[in-house]
Amino acid sequence: MPPSGDLLIRRAGRVVTNAGEPLDGPAAVSVRNGVIAWVGPDARVPWTITDAPELDAGGACVVPGFVDPHTHALWAGSRRAEYVARRQGERYDGGGIASTVAATTAATDEELVAAAADRLTAMAANGTTTVEVKTGYGLAPEAELRLLRLVGVLADRVPLRVEPTLLAHVVPAGADRAAHVAALAAVLPEAKALGARWLDVFCDRGAYTVAEARTLLGAGRAAGLGGRLHAEQLSRTGAAALAAECGCASADHLEHVDPAAAAAMAAAGTVGVLLPTATLTTGGGWDYARVLRDAGVTLALGTDCNPGTSWCESMPYALQLAAPLLGLTVAEALAAATAGGAAALRRPDLGVLRLNRAGDLVVLAADHEADLLAHLGAPAVRTTVVGGVPVAGQRHIH
Ligand code: NIG
Ligand code: FE
Repeated sequence: MPPSGDLLIRRAGRVVTNAGEPLDGPAAVSVRNGVIAWVGPDARVPWTITDAPELDAGGACVVPGFVDPHTHALWAGSRRAEYVARRQGERYDGGGIASTVAATTAATDEELVAAAADRLTAMAANGTTTVEVKTGYGLAPEAELRLLRLVGVLADRVPLRVEPTLLAHVVPAGADRAAHVAALAAVLPEAKALGARWLDVFCDRGAYTVAEARTLLGAGRAAGLGGRLHAEQLSRTGAAALAAECGCASADHLEHVDPAAAAAMAAAGTVGVLLPTATLTTGGGWDYARVLRDAGVTLALGTDCNPGTSWCESMPYALQLAAPLLGLTVAEALAAATAGGAAALRRPDLGVLRLNRAGDLVVLAADHEADLLAHLGAPAVRTTVVGGVPVAGQRHIH
């Protein structure tokens, strides 16, 4: 459950607001009742906000909290055997999903929630303040609804903002495809009632076809669920164009996107979610971000946190890959990790440090945002703040 409080951060060496140019310090940021009340020079903090608890940034850089718009954080079991096999040259084809489904099905509710809460706690320590969490390791409709309920339990347990998504991942082995798609479509109103905000479909070779994804997204829309798509990750199927056609908030992965589909995404306002950690492990090329950027697509960055292709709870790590490998500038990469994620989740209240927006921010363990990307593997975060309340890292306030 996201907290809400008052906080005055002083002596920031620099503040990246995403609303105009970064501010050089010493600067201050004030949060009141969970939302931004003031940002400006430390010397000019209005006396009306000085009664809040104070956090000394010690010259560090402050940035908006990371908005991770794509994770599969609810799972049980391990995929280490698959990892070892891949390092010996085997190709990833999504086949390992079944082993996580088996382990997830066998786990108790509490085991699943506890494991996911540990992952979200690690994310918070790495500066994430909002995280989208997909189901997807249940497959059968009832099993997916179970996981969706558990995402709700998880959201109540952690001090982060959680965006719940029902993911149609792959068709269960042996199922009649048409009957399965119809059964899944039929439970979407219940998914909505259980708190899902989004429906995502893995539309790719070995997963759902474009026609099946179109059917599911239509049923999702009718049930009040926004659409997102796993698109063009392992092969080019036309999923990115489908995302645009269906008005999806985002199309994600996109290693095989082509310029025409990227242009359609830009025209439809479909955000492109970049997941470089998954590209790293599945061995796709790195050119897709340029294709998307050249077409004018808004870019977001996520971790894709999952046991098979991206065991990662760190947005700083994703940022450190994204800039050099996807060809993003420091400013573009940081914007993708903050305002871009907010756009992908259609959350205009997030990703920007501006009056009345959420008081979600990160005091970096660095004086400048460029150091966050340049200093590879270093501890990246000093304090993570959600709604004006320090939730991870140094929380010493006075
Ligand atoms: O985002 N693309 C499909 N799904 C996940 C991988 C899931 C898995 O391998 O467990 C992904 O890469
Ligand atoms: Fe994914």
